[in-house]
Amino acid sequence: MTTELSYIGHSAFFIKTENQGILIDPFISGNPCAKFETNNQNITDIFVTHGHADHLGDAITIAKTERIPVTAVFELANYCMEHGAPAKGVNLGGNLKYGWGKARFLPAFHSSSTPDGRYAGMPASILFDINGTKIYHAGDTCLNFEMKTTGEIYSPDIALLPVGSVYTMDIDEAVTAAKWLNAKKVIPMHYNTFDAIKVNIEELKTKLSAQGIECKILEPGESIKL
Ligand code: NI
Ligand code: MN
Repeated sequence: MTTELSYIGHSAFFIKTENQGILIDPFISGNPCAKFETNNQNITDIFVTHGHADHLGDAITIAKTERIPVTAVFELANYCMEHGAPAKGVNLGGNLKYGWGKARFLPAFHSSSTPDGRYAGMPASILFDINGTKIYHAGDTCLNFEMKTTGEIYSPDIALLPVGSVYTMDIDEAVTAAKWLNAKKVIPMHYNTFDAIKVNIEELKTKLSAQGIECKILEPGESIKL
């Protein structure tokens, strides 16, 4: 079974299985660097790590148009429902089952509010198990010791890690995160979208390879087969 992971830009990804499609943190229309056509994609599920606009993005609009649910932490899911989108409210720790596999919301150390400034519940990272491949989307977070627990229990195949600093971890912390997560491969995210989070991404690749960890830098619009 072929599964394809596409980088849309910022922290947004689309994972396509044979007959389903998982959209994560779909910040698309508000991001000039984003590359993704929502039309003609078989999107079946949307996941949002926290309420900030650069993650919630177009989730509500797409959920309404495609009539598919947004899975998010309870308070954020309620906000989506209030705005007319189908949503599934969850919280950290649950083992959520889908046609393509499983998802589990895990901790992220950050803040989370809705676009109107309300409390949006805990920010999250999300561990996906898609047809047996474990993909960890860290959300927005600083380096935190929960990652060591996640590594010990789950050892994700691929870790999607923020590296832009200021709002999240920087490159050096991401290298430690990758080690703690016991990740085989890292795909960086949350950098170069705007000036405050500009980095030299090659530095990540050099530092990860010194640790024997593969780094795959994806340009917006680029995909890899899993
Ligand atoms: Ni954020
Ligand atoms: Mn963010």
